[in-house]
Amino acid sequence: NIEETLVLIKPDGVARNLTGEILRRIEAKGYQLVDVRLVQADVDLLAEHYAEHEGKPFYEPLLDFMQSGPTVALRIAGNRAIEGFRSLAGTTDPTTAAPGTIRGDLGRDWGLAVQQNLVHGSDSPESATRELALWFR
Ligand code: CMP
Repeated sequence: NIEETLVLIKPDGVARNLTGEILRRIEAKGYQLVDVRLVQADVDLLAEHYAEHEGKPFYEPLLDFMQSGPTVALRIAGNRAIEGFRSLAGTTDPTTAAPGTIRGDLGRDWGLAVQQNLVHGSDSPESATRELALWFR
């Protein structure tokens, strides 16, 4: 069941020079890198990407944070890559994400209105198709 998924290295990951470390973990796991872009996201892209979160308390801080610098967008592929990358990433809150995961090893809570959690991974085949079309249009 070969899948493609969208991975974002968010502006905190790029600014902290963790792009190489995160890519290393994805490659070491054995996923194939299909495409990569450095994107300065704008409000239109982010409003589409995060449509499901509109109205939540962290929505505006999230859009501001995601515009604060470049994001690295990755198209990766592999058997069960969607589930597999989410497991590599760890849970949303980096404070309690399991050690061994990207967020658990490299992230923490900075006391901000938005959780800066280094990476995003699509959560389903439908999300992956939709999000890949947005970031690699
Ligand atoms: P992501 O997987 O990109 O999806 C939505 C993002 O919103 C999430 O990662 C976090 O960066 C942020 N987020 C999710 N839940 C919260 C929360 N409760 N408080 C602050 N930020 C959040």
